[in-house]
Amino acid sequence: MEPDIDFVGRDVVSIRDFKRDDLEHILKAFDDLEKHRGSLDGALKGKLVALLFFEPSTRTYSSFQIAAERLGMTVTGFAGPTGSSITKGETLHDTVKMFEGYGADVFVIRHAKMGAARFASEITDVPVINAGDGSREHPTQAMLDLCTMKKAFGKIDGLRVGMLGDLRFGRASSSLAYALSNFDVEITFIAPEALQMRQEVIHFLKQRGVTPRRESTLEKVAEDLDVLYVTRIQKERIPDPTEYERVRRIYEVNLEALKEAKPSLKVFHPLPRVDELATDVDETIHAQYLEQAAAGLPLRMALLNLVVGGGR
Ligand code: NCD
Repeated sequence: MEPDIDFVGRDVVSIRDFKRDDLEHILKAFDDLEKHRGSLDGALKGKLVALLFFEPSTRTYSSFQIAAERLGMTVTGFAGPTGSSITKGETLHDTVKMFEGYGADVFVIRHAKMGAARFASEITDVPVINAGDGSREHPTQAMLDLCTMKKAFGKIDGLRVGMLGDLRFGRASSSLAYALSNFDVEITFIAPEALQMRQEVIHFLKQRGVTPRRESTLEKVAEDLDVLYVTRIQKERIPDPTEYERVRRIYEVNLEALKEAKPSLKVFHPLPRVDELATDVDETIHAQYLEQAAAGLPLRMALLNLVVGGGR
């Protein structure tokens, strides 16, 4: 039986707030939209979305913008701190209250500070979607990652997922790990000690019955994996620049690194990539990251439609 889930008015601040039924509901909404492209075009006509991006973004901003426009929404806000009153010192509180006064039906917020989206959700009754804050949360990225996995493999249960790179400071990897903990998966965190996954994430996974493996190199696990989720070293979040220089070239995923991999292995990356994923992987059957980025559009359309409601 279909679970009776109502998303209207719901905040999407942390992927930890979403249980398996919720995620299945989102996966289905995504799948329906993939099967019936155009079915949500214009569905939220007359609604207003405020995109408040206090931190730079390419994919997340533009996919939310295009998604909202396809839904027929009016889009307001800003794509980065320059050009907005933040440079004059305007607070997040005042910015949210102002757009609330303009009649925003939903906020989409990206911010460098952890907890910014949660704070915003507490000062307004308008639903808030977190488009990435600090080094902890990026729930819509995790949702689109799940959608892409389901599309590539037809299932999520049973997958062996390795996450590689900057797991300590990257919000995409921790959010995905939280999301995957709702499924029957094997997770391996592949990183040097300085960039290994934070204890609080490991603790949360164990509480949900998933005990992740930890490895320091890809070599040891490459042949076992179905998904290799590669992430960028978060230069802007690493407190020590010399540490950045030390770790930046340690993990380069290239053809050589994938030679033991199963033919069915899919390589994911939330993008942008820097040194950690060689372009020669693009031409292989393993590359999944462009499809992954493309999934951001239907996922964000489906999600806005669920949260704002009143559509189809
Ligand atoms: C990620 C982010 O902003 O956290 N990018 C994205 O949204 N696709 C990953 C990153 O910046 O490394």
